[in-house]
Amino acid sequence: MSLSILSRVDGEGLRKTLRAAFRVPGSNVDASDPPIRRALRRIASARQTAQSVASVVEDVVFDLRYGIETRTVVPVESVFGVVGANAQASRSYVPTRGRHLDRIFAALELPAGLGFVDIGSGKGLVLLKASRLPFARIIGVEFGENLVRTARDNVDRYRARTSRGAQIELVHADASAWPVADDIHVIYLYNPFEEHILRQVMARVHESAAAAPRPMWIIINHPQVEALITDADHFQQSGRVRYGSANFVVYQNVLARRLAPFPLGSDETSRRQASPVR
Ligand SMILES: C[S@@+](CC[C@H](N)C(=O)[O-])C[C@H]1O[C@@H](n2cnc3c(N)ncnc32)[C@H](O)[C@@H]1O
Repeated sequence: MSLSILSRVDGEGLRKTLRAAFRVPGSNVDASDPPIRRALRRIASARQTAQSVASVVEDVVFDLRYGIETRTVVPVESVFGVVGANAQASRSYVPTRGRHLDRIFAALELPAGLGFVDIGSGKGLVLLKASRLPFARIIGVEFGENLVRTARDNVDRYRARTSRGAQIELVHADASAWPVADDIHVIYLYNPFEEHILRQVMARVHESAAAAPRPMWIIINHPQVEALITDADHFQQSGRVRYGSANFVVYQNVLARRLAPFPLGSDETSRRQASPVR
């Protein structure tokens, strides 16, 4: 494979590159032919599987390297010491894939000095990853006591082995009742709960934005009800990052769009290479 093809695969993705290759003038191969389409689909699915396997391996290595435990799934019924009355609306603890997060952070190009919150922070993996970026403040809000305890242990171990993580705070609270602090700009949600809780969380976001207008980003994986986010405060979908099984949508309010417009067009897969921050 020539260098130019390789760089094209890097920049535009395998599927687009193959499509372009099949459109070569004079070629009798047509990308819209069913057998070619099937082959392209198979290649895309093999690529997604390869990406997923690589990201699982990376996550296992991350845990081993820092002596932490973030990977084991915790079903809803094994979450104890829940604050508030919303246990029934919770989803199980399933961690974000580190590589997906690296990808979204790389695509966002956020300015330094912002505040970040992971709503439903579980064992704290996202907080640890976020501490590699220049956030001024990083908060994890989690309502399960056993998960908060594991997260605290993970943060302590991570701090002991790195020079990072000093700005992480863990809050044991029901997210629907947590008043969003006015120095929080980036709100991350990875499938934590059902729609009616998201509605309440968005009410807290809107209260906070009204009390202290500032640039704000909402990053959410597979949003079910977009209107819940876009209804107020001029939050608009400004981009999408797909990677492996992840499908993150980024919303920005008008102040964030002015400060740092999302570098990708709406509904585009990131063209950047994931550049994990080490
Ligand atoms: C899918 S996990 C995501 C964990 C973490 N954010 C990550 O991406 O690795 C969702 C988490 O949200 C927590 N959660 C669910 N409902 C909650 C609520 N009302 N308040 C706070 N945390 C909640 C669950 O206990 C679980 O740890």
